[in-house]
Amino acid sequence: MTDTRLSDLLEFLRFPSVSTQCEHAGDMVACAAWLQKKFTTLGLESSVLETGGHPAVVARTPRDPDKRTVLIYGHYDVQPAEPLSEWTTPPFEPAIRDGRIYARGATDNKGQILAHILGVGETLAHAETLPVNVTFLVEGEEEIGSPHLESFLEKYRHDLACDIIVISDTGMAAHAYPTLTYALRGITALEFKVTGPSVDLHSGVFGGAVANPATAVARLIATLHDADGRVAIPGFYDAVRELPAWERQAAAALPVSDEHIRLLTGVSQLTGEPGYTAIERLGARPTVEVNGLGGGYQGEGTKTVLPKEAFAKLTMRLVPDQNPEKIQQLVADHLRSHCPAGVELLIETGHSGEPYYMDPNAPAGLAARRALETIFGKTPALMREGGSIPIVNTFKRILGADSLLLALASPDCAAHSPNENFPIENFLAGIRLNQAVLEELGKEAR
Ligand code: BES
Ligand code: MN
Repeated sequence: MTDTRLSDLLEFLRFPSVSTQCEHAGDMVACAAWLQKKFTTLGLESSVLETGGHPAVVARTPRDPDKRTVLIYGHYDVQPAEPLSEWTTPPFEPAIRDGRIYARGATDNKGQILAHILGVGETLAHAETLPVNVTFLVEGEEEIGSPHLESFLEKYRHDLACDIIVISDTGMAAHAYPTLTYALRGITALEFKVTGPSVDLHSGVFGGAVANPATAVARLIATLHDADGRVAIPGFYDAVRELPAWERQAAAALPVSDEHIRLLTGVSQLTGEPGYTAIERLGARPTVEVNGLGGGYQGEGTKTVLPKEAFAKLTMRLVPDQNPEKIQQLVADHLRSHCPAGVELLIETGHSGEPYYMDPNAPAGLAARRALETIFGKTPALMREGGSIPIVNTFKRILGADSLLLALASPDCAAHSPNENFPIENFLAGIRLNQAVLEELGKEAR
């Protein structure tokens, strides 16, 4: 590619903007400054704003009171790149192979948000004006649950006021397949630690008389699901909205099969809650997942030790109308009631994001579907997404606006995994999609 679009993306990807690791705080600031400069170069008024955590970048086009206002949201923070040894090329030295850009954040979310930024920049360069007023909000804490963004929205609600929100931070149903995501799962995190003896003990001298915290953690984890794969926490499913027939039909019509998912993940068979297809379980059913588990000797060889403590890190994925705080409470109560004798249980609750659901047949949904069809030449798939974007339902609550989730990620983009990548064709399609969706939204009545 001879233009500057690709080199802009490569520059953006070189910042190791890992929000969860404090040694990268300076990289976050540098990345935000780079974005601000990019917006300014493209002709938008832009500022880096304090949030109480990593800074957010806001940019805007001049307001025309006769036009609708579109907020485009994305994030410049990325997940940790570890394990580094599994990357073919280093995560923050972007490399191009077979038409794809490989780097941490290539898809999630730098490639996707930059497509929107450059889409607006190109329209302004050619036409000097857009069919809508545009505000960009690019934050640095999405991958840690957007802990400061709700108060930021309260503070800047007038500056961020909008009719509709556009986000590309979700996955296409299949490669190059236009996809409107109309629901996101919510999330709530909880970590628990089990403590026992005051020091690590000799497991021969004390094993058998002293409860083992690692065993207790394993026993607690084993109570979370029944043998069929349903969550076994009382009340967990109480608020879950059942899938209406049209959604089950839409899920069945998606260009993805259980076998696709099996091959993509490299497992011998798919498992999970009975009564639902894999696609339904991924988007429309809640889960409890163990994300981390530790305790006892992790080094080479054996060490006969009875560890003084062990821990597990859980996240629950939630669907409408589950409430994150209520679910945290149910999980905590369940763990406490199952804690074995002779150990102590310490529970720490973490970040939360509410589930999100919009009507894909609402006027804005139809506008998004027309734009997707124009760019990709196919009727868009309608999909519920299993991943979470914690701020989306908060946007609805505070700004009163729905979010159009226009997927640009391919199913094999390896988001959060080693060798994350973004096809250059998706990047270029994203630039055109930005222009098409703003065009369609500009036609809607104010
Ligand atoms: N872009 C993802 C969400 C996503 C992933 C949508 C895959 C569609 C397909 C987002 O950046 C993300 O990973 N969110 C986190 C949020 C969490 C850390 C609070 C997630 O879902 O784990
Ligand atoms: Mn993301």
